[in-house]
Amino acid sequence: MRGFGRIPDIAALIRATKVAPMTIAEAYGMPAARAPLVPPSPPRAPDDMTMFGRMKAIRISPIGSWGQRAYEEDIVQGRFLGRNSFILNAPDAIKHVLVDNYENYTRTPAGIRVLRPILGQGLLIAEGRAWKHQRRTLAPAFTPRAVMTLVPHMLAATDETVAKLRAASNAPVDLREAMQRMTLEIAGRTMFSFGMDRHGAALRDFVMEYGERLAHPHFLDLLLPLGWPSPQDLSRARFRKRWTAFVGMLMAERRAAGKTAGAPARDLFDLMGDARDPETGEAFTDAQLGDQIATMILAGHETTATALFWALYLLALDPAIQQDVADEVEGATVDGTLDIERLKFTRAVMDETMRLYPPAFLIARAASGPDTIAGLPVKKKDVILIAPWLLHRHEKLWRDPNAFIPSRFMTGTPPDRFAYLPFGVGARVCIGAHFALVEATLALAKMIGAFHVGLVDKEPVMPIGVVTTQPDRSPMFAITPR
Ligand code: HEM
Repeated sequence: MRGFGRIPDIAALIRATKVAPMTIAEAYGMPAARAPLVPPSPPRAPDDMTMFGRMKAIRISPIGSWGQRAYEEDIVQGRFLGRNSFILNAPDAIKHVLVDNYENYTRTPAGIRVLRPILGQGLLIAEGRAWKHQRRTLAPAFTPRAVMTLVPHMLAATDETVAKLRAASNAPVDLREAMQRMTLEIAGRTMFSFGMDRHGAALRDFVMEYGERLAHPHFLDLLLPLGWPSPQDLSRARFRKRWTAFVGMLMAERRAAGKTAGAPARDLFDLMGDARDPETGEAFTDAQLGDQIATMILAGHETTATALFWALYLLALDPAIQQDVADEVEGATVDGTLDIERLKFTRAVMDETMRLYPPAFLIARAASGPDTIAGLPVKKKDVILIAPWLLHRHEKLWRDPNAFIPSRFMTGTPPDRFAYLPFGVGARVCIGAHFALVEATLALAKMIGAFHVGLVDKEPVMPIGVVTTQPDRSPMFAITPR
């Protein structure tokens, strides 16, 4: 029962309560006498698939390539393309890799190959000293205090999205696309203070082109050493040239908009441009700043859009929980202003959504030297897989692992830190986690505060893992103003 933290002492709870005794479900904060929703997930792969079968399944979606063992065992050992691989589901083993001995585990060569054309040398794929310098320098731009200064940008973009949807609410609507546009708009405004009306389409085209044509690893991407270009790398290099020119143009435009000397930072561009390494005093060069901008826009917008899409999908499937969110939003709105501190249940819905559909479904590492994990010998270049998708649905770690029960995050005892990893953990934990949680909680509250959300398309939507946990198609929703 680790996922629930400590199990409440039901008898003590009943004794302590002055009103009618609670049912067990109520003691857990769950509505009584209602079976929780179990949303769609792909069938589990056979445990004994051949390597080629597994390769094929991985190319379609790693999520569909895992067998039942991966949802039940602490560690699943295997061999893949001549390397040992370990899927870790044991919290202690995860702590060892991501916290205690994190310096021995780097991003995988395939991960770097696929991401570097779009992220350059930015924080997400930097390693060693370069990473430490970047992380120290960037940290102040992502503190809760700094994020609060960006909230007006988030609210403005969210309000505009709600207004546009309201104007078109008599027809079926693609909320996945609406969330992608909105989070891109938020990424643009929080980064540059200007709307994405002129550049949003080009930015979306870059992201789509990359996701569809270049982000899927091919056989040779997985097999070749990083220094050897794979056939896909040539197209990736051509893409990088056009992409860096585009980011450079956005930076030039933002610089032309100016900054009043001594005025507080208006956006992430100011925060990251003003940032200095606290140890060396070094600032980012223009090229480094460009890579950080690309990294933050890319790492931040699609992940948050995906989380919001799944939250809206789950709430459309579960009208009772949707109503609970709407009621909370009504109570948290004072004189037209939403108080995020009072959106506890809305936040729990986001937490539970990212448990069932973690946008980052896989965290992969390669060992840079020998080690021992949970008593098992690990060699240099062995691959370590920590899959939030598996971990969050693991039979040993969660009660009703496949059910949508947001109230499990309302018990006052958070889940085990190493069993719930939507943002990773340890030194390389998501730097934008607080940013994303504020953005997603506010946006979900605004959406559900404004609309009843239902589904026109009733066929189950399946998650597939392509960089993030994407739906296999965009279902049409029906939204009615409240
Ligand atoms: C729901 C939204 C998000 C999810 C689920 C998410 C998830 C993650 C995860 C799991 C990692 C750790 C990967 C690892 O250990 O290998 C990560 C790292 C990172 N994330 Fe996020 N993220 C989200 C939003 C954001 C936002 C909004 C930003 C920036 C504005 C951002 C920027 C980054 C960066 C730069 C890293 C690399 C950190 C490092 O290596 O030091 N993310 N994210």
